[in-house]
Amino acid sequence: MSHTHRCIVAALAVLAISFSIAHGQPPTPPDRPLRILVLGGTGFLGPATIEYALARGHKVTMFNRGKTRPDLFPQVEKLHGDRDPKKGEGLKVLEKGEWDVVIDNSAYFPRMVAASAGLLADRCKQYILISTISAYGVPNPVGGDESAPLATMADPTLETMGEHFENYGPLKALCEQAAQKAMPGRVTIVRPGFIVGPDDPSGRFTYWPVRFSRGGEIAVPGSPSDLVQIIDVRDLGAWLVTLAENRTHGVFNACGPEKPMRWGQMIEACLKLAPAESRVAWLPAAFLSKNGGPGFPIWVANEGGGQGMHTWSNAKAVGAGLKFRPVVETLEDTLDWYRTQEQTSQGRTHLADPSAEAEAAALKAWKGEEAVKE
Ligand SMILES: NC(=O)c1ccc[n+]([C@@H]2O[C@H](COP(=O)([O-])OP(=O)(O)OC[C@H]3O[C@@H](n4cnc5c(N)ncnc54)[C@H](OP(=O)(O)O)[C@@H]3O)[C@@H](O)[C@H]2O)c1
Repeated sequence: MSHTHRCIVAALAVLAISFSIAHGQPPTPPDRPLRILVLGGTGFLGPATIEYALARGHKVTMFNRGKTRPDLFPQVEKLHGDRDPKKGEGLKVLEKGEWDVVIDNSAYFPRMVAASAGLLADRCKQYILISTISAYGVPNPVGGDESAPLATMADPTLETMGEHFENYGPLKALCEQAAQKAMPGRVTIVRPGFIVGPDDPSGRFTYWPVRFSRGGEIAVPGSPSDLVQIIDVRDLGAWLVTLAENRTHGVFNACGPEKPMRWGQMIEACLKLAPAESRVAWLPAAFLSKNGGPGFPIWVANEGGGQGMHTWSNAKAVGAGLKFRPVVETLEDTLDWYRTQEQTSQGRTHLADPSAEAEAAALKAWKGEEAVKE
């Protein structure tokens, strides 16, 4: 190979490494591939985690019922059963096998976490349980860290989410405790806020890039100075693998970005996706609460019980290697992904409310109120 050729090859290698780092991919494989068991794997966070783990050269096994997106990851070992030992074959298929780490993405009821963590305790080294910031008691403290009080429920044996999903958080707190009891000192609890990005089935964050791309007069709740926390699913998935590689134990909030982000900054980033003639109409929190809505996804009024919700400290997670990509990248990639979903008949095209009609009605009501003031 000539000197010029060698220089070109070296430059391309450097470029490839910079590209992979910039895109959150690992430049080098780990020293030792891990055997990773994912309880779940086919929803939203599972696929992002598995993709990264495979890119790192790890060996992945999935455990689920085989109902959701069964064609995902044909190269990955799939074990089928139910987290509920009372249903069908339950956890039978997990009675043999050894793993370095279990990533429990589908923990909703403490009885089932006690069953899986208890069964696997002697055959895995680490148990990473995906909890949520909803596991904290309400109202959330402003700027709270992992020591904030957890949510509780009167009857911890209940196995329903409740009419308004009110049991989700307290049940997650109980799931954390069940894992810690089964594997003391070997558990990692991860408490994310809103997980967002490509492949999100909830349509919450996705609402914003899609709405802005459609342009016109865009209703935005609250004030530009409100705070907002989100985490890109790819950043979270990659970090779960990092926690496994470093065998990091403890409890961590997983809320981004690294430095506090104002709601107005996110809306500015959304505007980059909008046609030039688009305009933003800010609907103050007081107006929305007086009119009974509409509700908007992700944003939470910076008052009353919601004040602390988007203010969780992420210092501990950042210290343990959690990295965040720029919000504009998440917005752009989410919009690109959504557009490809629209082109396929079985795509994930659900968007959270408000509907176009509800948004238009809110804008009309707000303008009416403003006209009266003038
Ligand atoms: N989305 C957010 O903003 C957010 C925020 C904070 C925390 N979280 C937490 O993040 C986690 C991520 O969830 P994910 O859906 O993305 O995880 P995932 O690993 O992608 O997939 C979960 C899979 O678990 C399987 N599953 C569900 N119930 C099961 C059961 N009884 N037995 C066996 N398998 C079962 C389902 O597949 P089958 O149908 O094939 O069984 C489902 O597709 C959850 O723990 C959630 O509480 C989410």
